[in-house]
Amino acid sequence: MILGIETSCDETAAAVVAGGRDVRSNLIVTQYDLHSKYGGVVPELASRAHLEQLDALIQEALAEARVTPADLEGIAVTVRPGLIGCLLIGVTAAKALAWAWGKPLIGVDHIEAHATSAAIALDHDPWPAVSLVVSGGHTSLYRVEDENCLTLLGATVDDAAGEAFDKVASILKLGYPGGPVVDVRARSGDPGRVRFPRSMPGDGLDFSFSGLKTAVLYHVHGPGRTSGGLERLTGQDVDDVCAAFSAAVVDVLVERSMQALDRTGLRTLLLGGGVAANSMLRQRLSERCRERGVTLHVTPPAYCTDNAAMIAAQGHRLWVRGRRDDYRMTASASRG
Ligand code: KG4
Ligand code: ZN
Repeated sequence: MILGIETSCDETAAAVVAGGRDVRSNLIVTQYDLHSKYGGVVPELASRAHLEQLDALIQEALAEARVTPADLEGIAVTVRPGLIGCLLIGVTAAKALAWAWGKPLIGVDHIEAHATSAAIALDHDPWPAVSLVVSGGHTSLYRVEDENCLTLLGATVDDAAGEAFDKVASILKLGYPGGPVVDVRARSGDPGRVRFPRSMPGDGLDFSFSGLKTAVLYHVHGPGRTSGGLERLTGQDVDDVCAAFSAAVVDVLVERSMQALDRTGLRTLLLGGGVAANSMLRQRLSERCRERGVTLHVTPPAYCTDNAAMIAAQGHRLWVRGRRDDYRMTASASRG
């Protein structure tokens, strides 16, 4: 039984997971309302909100799981990467509780937790596998040898896929976070009416989405213009832009995933991160995997966006392998 704590960005989360799979509680307080008027996360506001929410949320997660601190084997917490002030709130809370309750502390890498999150819903560990992590902060392909050995195969050189969804939603004035609403609008749109670029930089498996975002900006406002064009678009035009933009992102994500499978010779693909909730991505990826005889495991929606169940689950796998961190463990904004 592991308590998981997640505060790396704009979601405060606490969860209790037994055996790495049995999710006894999974609580999340989102800060959408706090940041929406700024069009993005304001780090200082996010840290303060974590501080206000976290203690009560941990108590609630224990109560909902019907466990007491004595039932816990350890406390897993996100240590990297993320907003440093936000990470420090969770790490400090985890250290204090580990000390007070006399429990082991397990630091978890947020991206590795996303990369292995599909396993929560399975009755076995699906590795070795390629894992595609697509979130608001990251777009990465990993080779997952096992829970403790993940190798980065490729990552975005500029914007993350989720960030591109959020920026396009902002260009179209659809609100923040933009992914879910662009997803819904795209379902009524024609992806073939506009063609946006598919960028696949370099010879490796990297991604780039900033050019695509600029292409959408100029399509909406006119070449070289950054404002004034939105009023000319009808509701159907906006749906079509959402569909064409989503298709461009999805094509690149699917193509790179297939290349990663070819290069590694692996036959299993995992999908995690907030953008894994995207309906077009799920559909196209499952079609391509079926054609190629590749096994695809998509993370269930509840564990796609930031959550503490995936932190507790990954913490449990590391705990089983003997991982114990001491109080010198500290948060890091980057993955290094
Ligand atoms: O994993 P996550 O909660 O945060 C990070 O760790 O970054 O992912 C949040 C991101 C946001 O950018 C949001 O717009 C995007 O995931 N997202 C989606 C969908 N649902 C959430 N993007 C596309 N389609 C969706 N249905
Ligand atoms: Zn995340």
